[in-house]
Parts: sequence; structure tokens; C-alpha cells
Amino acid sequence: MSDIIVRKAVLEDVSAIAEIERMSIPQPWSEAAFANALAQENAVTLAAVCDGAVCGFITGVYVLDSADIYSVATAEEYRRKGVGGKLLEAFFGALPDEAFTVGLEVRESNLAAISLYEKNGFERVGLRKNFYSDPKENAVLMTKFIRK
Ligand SMILES: CC(C)(COP(=O)(O)OP(=O)(O)OC[C@H]1O[C@@H](n2cnc3c(N)ncnc32)[C@H](O)[C@@H]1OP(=O)(O)O)[C@@H](O)C(=O)NCCC(=O)NCCS
Repeated sequence: MSDIIVRKAVLEDVSAIAEIERMSIPQPWSEAAFANALAQENAVTLAAVCDGAVCGFITGVYVLDSADIYSVATAEEYRRKGVGGKLLEAFFGALPDEAFTVGLEVRESNLAAISLYEKNGFERVGLRKNFYSDPKENAVLMTKFIRK
């Protein structure tokens, strides 16, 4: 595989991003939802490019000193190659030059994602019972503090 490039996502990336999300999580966002996120001023949506095609993405928002990661996913054939870690790093880098608490929720059974987040400095700070539906599941709340 050639180098992984992470860049700002553009409208042309939305169908590839939505497809990766569809293949990755139970209740995916629609293409329209991703397009909407791209248009939001305080949102950060980044695409990872591997071998010339979109192979992963991350999307989230920030307000004042708090940022939330809504979704991060890597296309199945590119997992365990560092794409997820690069996306997180680039997300932190894309936030304005201030101190931030970055938060997220993740399904309790999603050990791959929890492990990715822990490796990148997130800590478990709570549990939201039955937060997810289809299938019903608890959400682990995780946060990381960053200062630039
Ligand atoms: C979670 C996910 C984004 C990780 O992406 P990735 O590109 O494979 O991540 P990386 O290659 O950067 O992995 C970094 C670290 O995360 C952890 N990790 C990633 N996948 C793992 C797995 N299947 N099992 C255990 N740990 C895993 C490891 O610590 C890994 O480091 P290592 O490879 O040196 O051991 C990917 O598995 C995915 O898209 N899953 C489906 C979507 C999803 O669940 N998103 C999160 C929703 S909250």
C-alpha cells in the first residue's frame, strides 16, 4: 500500500464515505447527512486516501472548548494499517488552536474501536445504559483532553 494521506473531505468523497460507513456500523448516516456535515462551519470531516481512493473517514464537531467525534471508520481491506490512528491525529490537528475535551460514544462490544481510542489517549469516563438500538447496547463514553 502507498502512503496514507488524510485530507479535508469534499462533496465528491461523500458516496465513498457513506459506503464505508454502511459496511461498518449498524445504523449508518445517509449520504445527505454526510453532505450536510461538510457544509457545517464548526464540523470537521476528513477523508483518508489509500492507493488513490478513499479508504476511511472521520467526522465530528466542535463548540467552544468541546469537540465530539460522531463517526470514524476504515474500509475493511485497509484496517490494522494505521488509517484509524492517522484520522484521529488529523482530527485533533484540524481543531482550532485551543484546549479541547474531545468526547465520543462507542458500543460496549466494539473492542476494535475502544482499543483504537485507548491507544490514542482516550479514557473511559462513563457508561450510557441501552444507548444504542438495533441491537440494543450500552455506550461507553470516552474523552481525551488536548492542548495545542
Ligand atoms: C475501529 C476502526 C476505525 C479502526 O481502524 P483501523 O484503521 O483499523 O485502525 P488502526 O490500524 O489505526 O489501529 C490502531 C490500533 O487500534 C487497535 N485496533 C484496531 N483494530 C483492532 C481490532 N480489530 N482488534 C483489536 N484492536 C484493534 C489496535 O490497538 C491498533 O494498533 P495495532 O494495529 O498496532 O495493534 C475500524 O476497525 C473500523 O472501521 N471499524 C468499524 C467502524 C467502527 O466501529 N467505528 C467506530 C465507531 S465508534
